[in-house]
Amino acid sequence: MKIIYHGHAFVSIETGKHTILLDPFVTGNPNCDVKPGDIKCDYIIPTHGHGDNFGDTIELAKKNDATVIGIYEIAAYCGNKGVKAHPMNIGGGYNFPFGRVKLTMAQHSSSYVDGTYAGDAYGVILSIEGKNIYQAGDTGLFYDMKLIGEMQRIDCALLPIGDNFTMGVDDAVKAAEFVNAGTVIPIHYDTFDVIKSDAQDFKRKIESIGKKCIVMKPGDIYEL
Ligand code: NI
Repeated sequence: MKIIYHGHAFVSIETGKHTILLDPFVTGNPNCDVKPGDIKCDYIIPTHGHGDNFGDTIELAKKNDATVIGIYEIAAYCGNKGVKAHPMNIGGGYNFPFGRVKLTMAQHSSSYVDGTYAGDAYGVILSIEGKNIYQAGDTGLFYDMKLIGEMQRIDCALLPIGDNFTMGVDDAVKAAEFVNAGTVIPIHYDTFDVIKSDAQDFKRKIESIGKKCIVMKPGDIYEL
């Protein structure tokens, strides 16, 4: 499968048959390499309601007749907007046509840009084509990440490193250690001045604990 980075926390995953978008922040994302009208998708997984994560979820779901997968409150909100949605909650997993999705806890807040309650923020474990991808969502470091690494092999972890709103570099290195990720991809940094971060410093630190780190530019493709 292909993991394609689009700036901030927006990543698309392409299997042979399906395209899944994670945190599709397109409009207002200064680093995004794609236009909303050019995006094709089958499923969308926003990790919480914040504008830089939920982003263009509604518009993209409508345009592509895609299904939104999210925590109950996100799914209900999308359903009310006339979008197909599959509700889940933290700790639960479900087998979709492209693979399995499990929601994990994340230490973060969640509301829509208008302040409406959006349930809890969460991370996601995607099990696709025999590989497990952990997208931590926006989160601080928490010790239970160890359980995520103990319960399944994490082939690739997408971890926020921007600091201020989420983990910074050093906490994200500890997170990579906790989940025992094979490969780590930093996300959620450099989009705005307040989350400027040093991805090369992160890469060096990840490599110093014996793991692989891929620093992706918008438009870059990683084959997993
Ligand atoms: Ni957030």
